[in-house]
Amino acid sequence: MGERARAIGRTGAGLAACAAALAGLLGTTTAAQEEAPREVCAPGGAAADARIDGRIGGRASEGGAISDAQAAEYERRLRQERVPQQARDERRTVPVVVHVVSAEDGTGDLSEATVRRQVDVLNRAFGGGYGGADTGFRFELRDITRTADDGAFASVGRRGSAERAGLRRGGPETLNLYTADLGHGILGRSTFPQDYADDPGADGVVVDHRTVPGGGRENFDLGHTATHETGHWLGLFHTFQNGCSSPGDYVADTAYEREQATGCPTGRDTCPDRSGTDPVDNFMNYSDDACMERFTGGQADRMADHWYAFRAGKGA
Ligand code: ARG
Ligand code: ZN
Ligand code: CA
Repeated sequence: MGERARAIGRTGAGLAACAAALAGLLGTTTAAQEEAPREVCAPGGAAADARIDGRIGGRASEGGAISDAQAAEYERRLRQERVPQQARDERRTVPVVVHVVSAEDGTGDLSEATVRRQVDVLNRAFGGGYGGADTGFRFELRDITRTADDGAFASVGRRGSAERAGLRRGGPETLNLYTADLGHGILGRSTFPQDYADDPGADGVVVDHRTVPGGGRENFDLGHTATHETGHWLGLFHTFQNGCSSPGDYVADTAYEREQATGCPTGRDTCPDRSGTDPVDNFMNYSDDACMERFTGGQADRMADHWYAFRAGKGA
């Protein structure tokens, strides 16, 4: 764990707190973090419970940082589903509902133009417009809900938030993207596709309102927190999952990486015995927004497989 990236693992309600790569804002470490020393975002209460249970979905795990054992369990669930090869060739349109949750004094209230810019960033990122693969996913804004409530503003980002479940629309195919106050250490969090069946109300992506395009979060306000979290929502792990050890992030064309990148350490090579330099420009790393520019073809296939297995056509 570098000096610049510290994490808190559990806060009051057993919440998995995903730390931003910001210097010195957070200092607490926890037992959960020690179990997973490579991860900035430590698994929280439900995640730890899930490991004891030997299952993931007693309650949905949130946040993209999970233990290697949990990643293996998600992978096992994916492999139980039979996904035809052709599923990867389809074009997919994801309906999106954005829930703008703000404080009563207007903090966090985003304009429709800003919401549209965020969705545009998703379309550009998943379309290969920053330089990566075209993943075949497109995002279509269907609705915006607005909630101005101090309590909701603070709690929508938390695990098991009743306000979040109450706002949710659509089935497993609908991306519910919430903007709220996640505090100063947390940029965003997401559920995984495999979580949906056990806890549909929790399904979705939450980002701090300052991470949207022009939102003012230093180094993280080009909208790629939503890009990154949506990658989790479609089944991707961090590029540094499993560190230098097989099977890494379960994607063949992303190079192995010992730990998360912060800033933009182009050319670094934390797994010298493995081929390739670290994928610091990948959306599933922790680099600054300006550094991130790609999903790979392997990640595109992995997302397509999850879409077919857990989201497409599984709605009511
Ligand atoms: N640490 C957060 C997570 O794993 C978000 C990282 C987003 N990175 C960024 N450059 N916006 O869910
Ligand atoms: Zn993540
Ligand atoms: Ca890989």
